[in-house]
Formats: sequence, C-alpha cells, structure tokens
Amino acid sequence: MGETLAGGVHLEGAQAMTLPEHVARNRAAWDGWATDYVEAGERAWAQDEPTWGIWGIPEAEVGMLPPDLAGKDTIELGCGTAYISAWLARRGARPVGIDNSEAQLGTARRLQAENGLEFTLLHGNAEEVPLPEKSFDLAISEYGASIWADPYRWLPEAARLLRPGGELVFLVNGTILMLCVPDEDGIAAGDRLLRPYFGMHRFEWPDDQSVEFHLPYGEWIRLFRRNGLEVEDLIELRPGEGATTGYPFVTSEWARRWPSEEVWKARKRLDG
Ligand SMILES: C[S@@+](CC[C@H](N)C(=O)[O-])C[C@H]1O[C@@H](n2cnc3c(N)ncnc32)[C@H](O)[C@@H]1O
Repeated sequence: MGETLAGGVHLEGAQAMTLPEHVARNRAAWDGWATDYVEAGERAWAQDEPTWGIWGIPEAEVGMLPPDLAGKDTIELGCGTAYISAWLARRGARPVGIDNSEAQLGTARRLQAENGLEFTLLHGNAEEVPLPEKSFDLAISEYGASIWADPYRWLPEAARLLRPGGELVFLVNGTILMLCVPDEDGIAAGDRLLRPYFGMHRFEWPDDQSVEFHLPYGEWIRLFRRNGLEVEDLIELRPGEGATTGYPFVTSEWARRWPSEEVWKARKRLDG
C-alpha cells in the first residue's frame, strides 16, 4: 500500500519502501498507540485557546505562536491528531500537517470532518517531505517530529521548507529531564543524572520499540546555524504550582525546579 494523502493525493510507495529503521519502528508504535490519543485529540480540537505540552500551559504564557497567522502557510511536523493545525486554521493560516502514522491521521481526518475544517494531511516521514522548498512561513511541532524524528534529518528538512524570514517553533522534553528519567516505564524522574549529557542523541526505552531523539543544547544551536536558522528563543516551560499531568515520567514538584519542557524558536535567515 502506498502513502495516502488527504485532499485526494496519493503517494506511491517510494517513501514508504525506504523508511529509515527508526521511522518504521515509530510508525508501528504510533499506529498502535493512536487509540490512546483520540480523547486528548478531541479535547484539543474543541479548545479555542491553544495550550502546550504535558501541563497544558496557555499560549498567553508561552507565546509559541506568531501573533499574526492570517494568510500564513504553515506545516505541522508530526501533527498526530492535528489539533495545532486546527488552531492555526482558525487563526486564518493555511495549514498542512504531516504524520508518520496513518492511524493518527485517521483521527485527524474524522475531527476535520466533524469540525468542518479542511486542510491537507500528508502521510509520511517529516525527515523527507514531498513538497517544494520555501513553501512555508511557519514550521511547528509539539512532541512530533521534534522528538520522534532524527534532528539531523528533520531540522534541515524544516529549514528547506521555510521561506526566508520564516519561523521554526517546536516543543521537546527538557534536556535535563531526559538525563534523569529512569529506564523503567511509569517511574518519575528523580534528582540524579542517570545518563551522560555528552553524546545524547538517540534514545530507546527497554519497555517499547519506539525511538526518540534528544540533543544537547550546543548541538541544537550548531544544527540551527548550519541550516541557515537564527535562534530567537529557548523557552523553558514551568508549570504553575499544583499543576497536574497524566504522564507518569515527571512530577510537578520536579517540573517546578527544573525545565521538563523546552520550546525552541528560530528564524530562517533572509539570505537563507
Ligand atoms: C505525541 S504525537 C504529536 C502530536 C500532538 N502534538 C500531540 O502532542 O499529541 C507524536 C506524533 O509524531 C508522529 N511521528 C513520529 N515520527 C514521525 C516522523 N518521522 N515524521 C512524521 N511524524 C512522525 C507520530 O506518528 C505521532 O502521531
């Protein structure tokens, strides 16, 4: 079976046949997890105001989105149920979402129909997007390609897709958190560094088949600059006192002391 594109386009197998090993593994994992994300997707689609990350911090506090999205071409890299693209569409943007999981896109398509909101959804790998360079004003990802794809592949691809002056904004797990989370599923991070900072890149957890990617700060900065992107901000998210999350790998006490989530903002150079 080839790649199915919403909006009537169908990509015949070239990309699917040559998926990198981590992308194939993450495709299988996310096709399996998709049903667990339906309810959260429905809730997020129903929200008027964006909230971000595992603590649901409001956009007014984070400032992840550019103020004026009207008429902007946006791409969501690893869109899942595509609620961010829905928020962008309601603000006048022209979104495209790409995701590696057909099952996640199934939920996204149903929610599009139920909400009467049409935008293009592509089934594919955000490391290799079948669209021309300089097509977008904003590339965005919240726990999408930003952690599940290889940064040395997806970030150059995001830079290629952006127009000069375009913005790249993405949310990832906090770097220190990734050093403190135990291997065992369901146990929250403590106050000890459990693995090296130097060399961090590919993460595999013993309890599942998926592959994640997390980089040291200096690596991110050099990667941005090599790809014609200027860093504008690194926002360390801090939940309010007593905040709750459904995820077991971090407590609010931990997240009040150290950043459990980070938002990078970068802009494509005008001569890029
Ligand atoms: C946690 S969801 C992100 C969507 C949403 N923002 C959220 O937080 O639920 C992660 C998504 O990334 C997608 N993904 C993983 N690897 C990808 C890749 N290489 N290219 C595109 N999407 C990818 C998965 O299929 C999954 O739908």
